[in-house]
Amino acid sequence: VNIKELLNKLTTEEKIGQLLQIAPFFFVKEAEIEVQGEVKDLYLSSKKIFLSGSVLGIRNAEEMIKIQKLYLERSKHQIPLLFMADIIHGYETIFPVPLALSCSWNPKLAYDMARISAVEAQTSGIHVTFSPMADLSRDPRWGRVVEGFGEDPELIKAFVEQMVYGYQQKNVKDEGNIASCVKHFAAYGAIEGGRDYNTVDLSRLSLYQTYLPGYKAAIDAGAKLIMTSFNVVDGIPATINKHLLRDILRDQWKFEGVTISDYDSLHQVVDHGCAAGDEEASLLGIQAGLDIEMASSCYVRYLAKQIEDHEVEIGLLDEAVGRVLTLKEELGLFDNPYKGASIEKELVLVRSKEHLEASKKIALESAVLLQNNGALPLNRKLKVALIGPYSKLKTTNGPWSWHGNNDLNHSLESTLISGGVDLIYVSSAENESELNANDSNELEKADLVIVAIGESIRESGEAHSKSMLDIPRNQASLVRLAKKMKKQVVVVLYNGRPLCLDTILEADSILETWFLGSMANEAIALLLTGKKSPSGKLTMSFPRNVGQIPVYYNHLTTGRPKVEGHYNEYVSYYLDVENSPLFPFGHGLSYATFTYEGLTVSKEKMNPSEQMTVSIRVKNNSEIEALEIIQLYRRDYVSKIAKPVKELKQFKKEHFKPFEEKTISFELSIKDLTYINDTGENVYEYGKFQIMVGPSSIDTQNIDIVLIKED
Ligand code: GLC
Repeated sequence: VNIKELLNKLTTEEKIGQLLQIAPFFFVKEAEIEVQGEVKDLYLSSKKIFLSGSVLGIRNAEEMIKIQKLYLERSKHQIPLLFMADIIHGYETIFPVPLALSCSWNPKLAYDMARISAVEAQTSGIHVTFSPMADLSRDPRWGRVVEGFGEDPELIKAFVEQMVYGYQQKNVKDEGNIASCVKHFAAYGAIEGGRDYNTVDLSRLSLYQTYLPGYKAAIDAGAKLIMTSFNVVDGIPATINKHLLRDILRDQWKFEGVTISDYDSLHQVVDHGCAAGDEEASLLGIQAGLDIEMASSCYVRYLAKQIEDHEVEIGLLDEAVGRVLTLKEELGLFDNPYKGASIEKELVLVRSKEHLEASKKIALESAVLLQNNGALPLNRKLKVALIGPYSKLKTTNGPWSWHGNNDLNHSLESTLISGGVDLIYVSSAENESELNANDSNELEKADLVIVAIGESIRESGEAHSKSMLDIPRNQASLVRLAKKMKKQVVVVLYNGRPLCLDTILEADSILETWFLGSMANEAIALLLTGKKSPSGKLTMSFPRNVGQIPVYYNHLTTGRPKVEGHYNEYVSYYLDVENSPLFPFGHGLSYATFTYEGLTVSKEKMNPSEQMTVSIRVKNNSEIEALEIIQLYRRDYVSKIAKPVKELKQFKKEHFKPFEEKTISFELSIKDLTYINDTGENVYEYGKFQIMVGPSSIDTQNIDIVLIKED
């Protein structure tokens, strides 16, 4: 369809309607209420509803088909509705939450997850997913760290890019593909105090270097939409922030896709105190470059008059509506408004066996073995007792898994038993005070106790920030009890954020499983029994206590660095806790034992147009087949602006057979030595760099190289 021609046929009111996104129950009363946030009256007449451009949160194919049909029957220009939803880590087949997935350090798995999510979601008539969430965060008090990919820009970029490819593939028009809407633009993860929706206040340098790269990676990978965030940037709400939406997004990044607000975040500009009312919000939004207004009605109530009174240039409206119509054209909706929606296919494709298998494979690579003093893998001859709330709980889908059904999942008890473990289930008690004498007797009979504990799925995700990060509800008392009984103790953690684990360190082993989705406990049983070795590594630091936050690996040295083991009173440290995190970025154990040696570089010096090869020998010194994640960090010793003590630049995940030894090589080029300055440009400075390679951010072999001028 010719977008220009179509646009010229539309009245101003019809154009503005395309910028409105509302929930399905505005069309069909009995449609299920699924969206987040309180549902407000949007003062919409039936006419306005049937002029809207897109729908937020559709439940299934039948509902989509019904609404699309009802809508088109009343649409003069036959412009189909666009259906969008939050498919964050799976549709009906639920995958590990993104924070868990990032710990696999295997972006290919992100592609697989997005691919399967798209195939399932589009059978239900979904055209756009509000994913990937590219918000970097260094603050585990924030409930939404569960939706992101951790504290490092490089890792976030690698995962976000693959998610976009997985959703969209080459052409979003093709069957099985959905458009990706990256979010939340921008720097939502930098909220003060980790308190959701709170103020963000950071330098341009920090914005460009740390917080923007993830969104840019999605845009560069071709994401069709980007969603504005609830927070301010430079004191201006992101939803009406021209610097973000025009200078950066359009002028610098050449983005041509659609911008969409977050849930009623255009109206919230009034709550921010940056508009006197919805009328001013409407003016500010269209001028800043906001296209679709989600779940509020500033545009539909005020924009027409603002255009009539020449307060708003009609060109701005045509630009925004043109982008929305172009997206509908790119999705092929004018030819087929129902795209892939199919009630029959929905029954067959969603939550299929192979999709579940794929989810299990990803779960196996996303768990992180934090500590292991020999209790894992489980010794088959041992009598094992199982205790704690997650012994029988099936709620492993985690936050943002609307369409998943936890009831279809299996409990840890059932998967351990079917995994051949000689298991006694003792109790789902949260802590020692809930146990009775019989429970203690049962525990007595066991050689080893598995303590399955963690957060409920309502303790992380949106609007679920915490000021304390201890293991909740005194669950740690179960570990203490089992240790008092001289048992070996294995803690299996289910949680949506890094927690303070100081109260369970006496456990022999700690397996961090986050929320691994539909096949969580199948994967956990395979890992605990040693059929598979854990291979995940942390992408977010675990603080020793909340007071340390923000604690992250790629920090600056400061002018008074604390040198471990060297006493000096006047340096940067706390009187009551070490500077280092309890478990650092890149940390994760395996059942295999690896040695790293012989770090070499193919040349000591290189100029900006050259490359060099960095190699290291990695040996699996065990009879266990395992995966290992080799990380390459760099440090720029001296430059105009202070630089982090290390920054991840490359990583490789390699498979090792028993006793296999490999030379792992990285091709280093100028892109590994550049940094982003406070105007967003990639720059570099000549001089000495340190290259560090190893199994975690705190365990590396190091070598110096020099970047020299081209002769
Ligand atoms: C929510 C979230 C956003 C989500 C949107 C639609 O408030 O902030 O991530 O995509 O609303 O549900």
